[in-house]
Amino acid sequence: MATFAGRSIISMRDFTREEMLYVLEMTRMMDEEPGKYSNLLGSKIMATLFFEPSTRTRLSFESAMTRLGGRVIGFADPSASSTKKGESLADSIKIVESYADLIVMRHPVGGSARLASEIAHIPVLNGGDGANQHPSQTFLDLYTILKDKGRLEGLTVGFMGDLRYGRTVHSLAHALTQFGCKLYFVSPKGLEMPSDLLEELTDMGAAYQEHADYEEVKGNLDILYVTRIQRERFGTELDYDKIREGYNISKQFLEGCNPDLKILHPLPRVDELSEEVDETSHALYFTQAANGIPTRMALIGLVMGVVS
Ligand code: NCD
Repeated sequence: MATFAGRSIISMRDFTREEMLYVLEMTRMMDEEPGKYSNLLGSKIMATLFFEPSTRTRLSFESAMTRLGGRVIGFADPSASSTKKGESLADSIKIVESYADLIVMRHPVGGSARLASEIAHIPVLNGGDGANQHPSQTFLDLYTILKDKGRLEGLTVGFMGDLRYGRTVHSLAHALTQFGCKLYFVSPKGLEMPSDLLEELTDMGAAYQEHADYEEVKGNLDILYVTRIQRERFGTELDYDKIREGYNISKQFLEGCNPDLKILHPLPRVDELSEEVDETSHALYFTQAANGIPTRMALIGLVMGVVS
């Protein structure tokens, strides 16, 4: 297995199953004994460049770096950076790499994280690039599933929501395919999984079913992964309002589901997932969000070469 030291984390396409399990094992160690790692990165600086809004991803990366003993610089709003003055992404990266030891970046354009990693001489961690990929979210999703179910192999996972623009879905579906999971894709019309990604999953030998009817599959699901409609990637308000209708997970909606079903959601939620579901045994999304800390500690520690 290639070393993680100095490596960028851009896409789940870059990881073998063995490498994913290695990251998850490191995450488990960080989760179980966080105090053991608190002085690892004393002299190191992480830059967070967020060209798109974020709560969980940015704050949990910053918290993870702080918990490893490192320090954080960066911006959460591009209008407060030189991007506002017309600076290119390439120039911003060239500058920031001389101020920091690693970069975490979120950007509205798919492929921008890969571009940044090709320019930078320090690791770049993709915090979400357009509708493309969100690998650190996928690692925390995998860790959450593994911790709850005790395995990743052969699970039955339903994806519901904006499968067209949801980068968390694209990343996770790719990773779960490597573990031989059976995938069901349920989406409002017009928000189906991108056909090129489906072709890729087919080439990997994926077992998936598109346009699945939730009522037919709900008794069999181990995991239901819900996403909000990615309004910011829509053309007009009208489209958004048309599509959001009739799309809500409530207690009633869950009647007849597998009693061990767990619901994941990358958050934020809007109105696709009712708060009344929070009190059921199915809700795992707040635990999922909390798992962002050990997962991102593991990723940072690995790429900085201070744990292996
Ligand atoms: C997701 C994202 O940014 O892609 N949020 C997150 O990182 N937890 C999902 C979303 O915004 O809907």
